[in-house]
Amino acid sequence: MKDFKRYLVTSALPYANGPVHIGHLAGVYVPSDIYVRYLREKNKDVIWVCGSDEHGVPITLKAKKEGVKPQDIVDKYHNIIKESFKELGISFDIYSRTSSEEHHNTASEFFKTMQENNKFIEKTTEQYYDPEAQQFLADRYITGTCPHCGYESAYGDQCEKCGTTLNATELINPKSAISGAKPELKNTKHWFLQLDKNQDFLEKWILEDHKEWKPSVLGQCKSWFQKGLQPRAVSRDLNWGVPVPVKNAEGKVLYVWFDAPIGYISATKEFTPDWEKYWKDKDTKLVHFIGKDNIVFHCIIFPTMLKEEGSYILPENVPANQFLNLEGDKISTSRNWAVWLHEYLVDFPNQQDVLRYVLTANAPETKDNDFTWKDFQTKNNSELVAILGNFINRTLVLTNKYYDKIVPETGEYTQEDKAVFEDINKSIKNIESNIETYHFREALKEFMNIARIGNKYLADSEPWKLIKTDAERVKTILNVSLQITAILSITGEPFLPFSSEKIRGFLNIEKQNWENAYSNNILEAGHQINKPELLFSKIEDKEIEKQVAKLEKTKTDNMLENIEIAEQKEEITFDYFQKNDIRISTIIEAEKVAKTKKLLKITVDTGIDKRVIVSGIAEFFKPEDIIGKQVLVLINLAPRKLKGIESQGMVLMAESPSGELTFVSPNGKTENGSCVN
Ligand code: 2FM
Ligand code: ZN
Repeated sequence: MKDFKRYLVTSALPYANGPVHIGHLAGVYVPSDIYVRYLREKNKDVIWVCGSDEHGVPITLKAKKEGVKPQDIVDKYHNIIKESFKELGISFDIYSRTSSEEHHNTASEFFKTMQENNKFIEKTTEQYYDPEAQQFLADRYITGTCPHCGYESAYGDQCEKCGTTLNATELINPKSAISGAKPELKNTKHWFLQLDKNQDFLEKWILEDHKEWKPSVLGQCKSWFQKGLQPRAVSRDLNWGVPVPVKNAEGKVLYVWFDAPIGYISATKEFTPDWEKYWKDKDTKLVHFIGKDNIVFHCIIFPTMLKEEGSYILPENVPANQFLNLEGDKISTSRNWAVWLHEYLVDFPNQQDVLRYVLTANAPETKDNDFTWKDFQTKNNSELVAILGNFINRTLVLTNKYYDKIVPETGEYTQEDKAVFEDINKSIKNIESNIETYHFREALKEFMNIARIGNKYLADSEPWKLIKTDAERVKTILNVSLQITAILSITGEPFLPFSSEKIRGFLNIEKQNWENAYSNNILEAGHQINKPELLFSKIEDKEIEKQVAKLEKTKTDNMLENIEIAEQKEEITFDYFQKNDIRISTIIEAEKVAKTKKLLKITVDTGIDKRVIVSGIAEFFKPEDIIGKQVLVLINLAPRKLKGIESQGMVLMAESPSGELTFVSPNGKTENGSCVN
């Protein structure tokens, strides 16, 4: 593998229209933090940039809905996101934002350079225009019926029901999301990136020169190539974003997906005056961490922009992850189906590493994966507490007890001691190769393997028994165990930075370089360590039940929100109502109407007569369950034929907002024929 002089790592800029959830973390931010922390421990020259993506239509829609300015929305979420990342130990070198002046300037300059070099095609096309709001409509501002699945609330760019990517003009019965008006097609000019012209270059660069990329990433690129790349508009008719920096372009801004990745550049600029070295020197390794929904933008569109601009390097890798689900359901911001980072940090104070651990162990690296609270508890209690915490705790407690916190001398190593270090060295190598190839789950397993090796070493050598018979040997065993603890603090730093720091505190040592992990003498004999404390604590059932109950409540809230209580009908007079002849009646016979799903043939005793009524309630009631029931019957309803049977009246039912039917019955047995007034 080529050795690079420096690294530039980017993580997808989260939209500043909501807080960050575990899906974002597992897909993008935790893996990239592991990668960068590892590089730093290896003393590599690395910069890691991120920031809030503050443009785009959803932000303007949210602002409109809440009656505030888009800037208010992004200010609010930018701060929440930035703070919660920091608290989880996501160690960006800079977390910037795309509404900053630096970014606006950088994005404008980028566009201008391309424009001056005739890299865009300018085209006038027909686009939907809202005649009432007097503005062009971005695809997200148009809703209508999906031509593929019939879903009535599909957006102009995508149907969220069947997932199909759409063109606004394909929607049936399009409606403006702003005014509800029927949109009209009108001419508008835009700038197009010539993806088509770059297809050959991109195909070679990705499919031939970067065969090492993840199969899912290569697969998505291939399918775009197969469909044939088309010119793509990089401007929009909108008033929120980076204005198109040419004359006579009022009311036009850069498309959010044009300006957002340039955010990586502006963040680097903001971080260091030396930024060009990281973006323009071929000896820089540029890596984009993203989720799978961002693949086309980072593998095809942004690289085309970088190449067309002319002075930039292209990414070496784009390790995209799949999605994380929550308790078996797709995470959804709008349905509040998520574990929000800022809430986790309140509910589980000082337990950042537990979340980092579980999300890494379950990272959706090759397929979508599931987060469950039960698994979160198990991973904490049976892995972090029972394996890692247990090993370190036993080592420290015994050192405290036998040697008053002084690292004992080691005697000559036995075969077992040597084998332990050999096995650990193998694991360290495996951690390295896995992190370097973006296999963070595997890397974490290898890290835990070191703790397992330590546990087994203690269990096999039983220093607590040996102390009575061979005290000299115990010194070596505990020296070895203490060295393993130190190795865990070094190799754990990328995954569990808070715990690593704690271990360093227990051991009374400074932060180490990665290479020191290969040493079996990090702690010299005679070194004084500190009093041990617990590294992890058990998570009790009640904490988990609280989280599960929170999700249950979300489910119920969502259900209730979808239920609408019918509006009041138009006013009627008393005399009008009195025309209804409603009688208490008893159901005396009931049977299903053949070849129908919904109909029951019911015979009722109305007190006046016995008559047949056909009622559409078969999906709710079995015939045998309703015989003998007293019900209300509208007896003067004009008879009508249903499936060849004459129905002489109507059994009155209550229909709940969610569509469930129940009988309306008298309160206690009442004489048939009694009038209901
Ligand atoms: O999908 C998203 O959340 C986008 N805001 C990611 C942008 S990444 C980059 F290009 F800025
Ligand atoms: Zn659809």
